[in-house]
Order: sequence, then structure tokens, then C-alpha cells
Amino acid sequence: MARGFIDGEYQDGELRGLNFLVGRRGYGKTTEMARLLSLCTGGVLFFDVLSKHAPMLPGYIIFFEPGPLLKYLRVNRGRRFRVLYQPRQGNLDDHFQAVCKIVRACGWMIFAVDELDKLCGSRHGSSWMSVAFYDLVNYGRHCRVSIIATARRPQGVAAGFKAESEYRVYRLKDQAALDAVAKDVGEENVERIRNLPKYVYLHCIEDEEPIERGNASITL
Ligand SMILES: Nc1ncnc2c1ncn2[C@@H]1O[C@H](COP(=O)(O)OP(=O)(O)O)[C@@H](O)[C@H]1O
Ligand SMILES: [Mg+2]
Repeated sequence: MARGFIDGEYQDGELRGLNFLVGRRGYGKTTEMARLLSLCTGGVLFFDVLSKHAPMLPGYIIFFEPGPLLKYLRVNRGRRFRVLYQPRQGNLDDHFQAVCKIVRACGWMIFAVDELDKLCGSRHGSSWMSVAFYDLVNYGRHCRVSIIATARRPQGVAAGFKAESEYRVYRLKDQAALDAVAKDVGEENVERIRNLPKYVYLHCIEDEEPIERGNASITL
């Protein structure tokens, strides 16, 4: 699928609007996110909460501070770029807030957030999102930004993000996690999610029958 502006949302590759990969650790979420990003033809910014994904993302330029990132994107905005942001020192929320503001200011990109549950929570008030991230979730389409995020615990992610997201759900085991996705993906799919094999996810697109995707035999 080409890059463009479709149904009021910025599209690149298979990604448009808000996208959420959720499921157990080690089941292939970040790998699949990297694959989906590799299909994009325009700009991609990957916020690496754990600062450990550089080997999975060859060709990405790494930034550790907002200043140099802004300088780089001022020059490259609108073009194809691959940026990895690693918040190695200092406060994680401060880094994320600064990066979200830069993403909003520059526009025209897929914003990928690994382990989004670490960046959401009641410390941000009732929305569970920092102000700058809330703005991107709700108004990102106006600046041509779409978002993809991963999380292990769906209950740790802001409802305002999840409710509007296209879900890719990997196996979930504990009842609290299953209950947390049931409302958004449909009660009738919960049993399937409980029994998914490793590396396989249920892709839930609004108004369509969910399909199982991914397999254990891909060569990485
Ligand atoms: N489809 C797949 N087939 C085989 N191995 C995979 C597949 N997807 C991921 N892996 C491997 O499984 C491990 C965990 O994947 P990762 O994407 O980090 O999981 P998660 O983000 O869900 O914790 C990695 O070593 C990765 O290379
Ligand atoms: Mg991961």
C-alpha cells in the first residue's frame, strides 16, 4: 500500500491511524513492529523505551537527546528517514514528552513506541497519557502522524489510545489482560487469544472478521 492520506489518516505501508501490538513477552511483538516499519516508504521514528533494539533496526540513526533529533528532523521532515531514539539517561517521561512534541511539530511520519505501558499511567492524570502524547493520539492525523505501539500488559495502556486502535493481539494468559482487551477486540475472540501459538497474532480490523497472521518459520 502506498504512502498517502487515506480516510483522514496518514498511511504508510500497512499502517494507518493508531495501531497496537499487545501480548506476552517474547512472542514477537517488537519483531513484527520492525517488519511493519520496514514496509514504510516515508519517515519512521522508533522510541526505544528499553534502549536495546538497535540490532533489530539496521540503518536507523540513533539519537539520545531531543536537541539533535529536532535538528535532524528539521532538515529531513517529509522525506524518508529511519530514526531510533534511546532515552538512556534521565527521566523517561521527560524524554517521551520532548520527542512527542518534536513528532507533532515535524509531522509526516510513523511514530513507533515500544513498551507503551511504561509511558502511560495515572501520574499523567485521568487520560493516563502525557499532554504531548495525548495530542498526537487525538490530533496526529492533522500533522500526518500515525502511531504504532507495543505493550505486554494491555491494562497498563491508556484507554484513549486502545479504543481507537487497530489491534494485533498475541497470546495473553492471565484473566486481567484478557478482560482488558475483551471490550476492544470482542468477547468472542478471547478464547482464540488465550490459545494462540508463539509468533502468531490475531489481527483485528474494525468491521472485519479477525484473522490470524504471522508464523514461526520466518527467517529473521
Ligand atoms: N516469527 C518469528 N519466528 C521466529 N522467531 C521470532 C519470530 N518473531 C520473533 N522472533 C524471535 O523471538 C524473540 C522475541 O521476539 P520479540 O519481537 O523481541 O518479542 P516481544 O517484543 O513480544 O517481547 C526474538 O529473539 C526474535 O528474534
Ligand atoms: Mg518487545
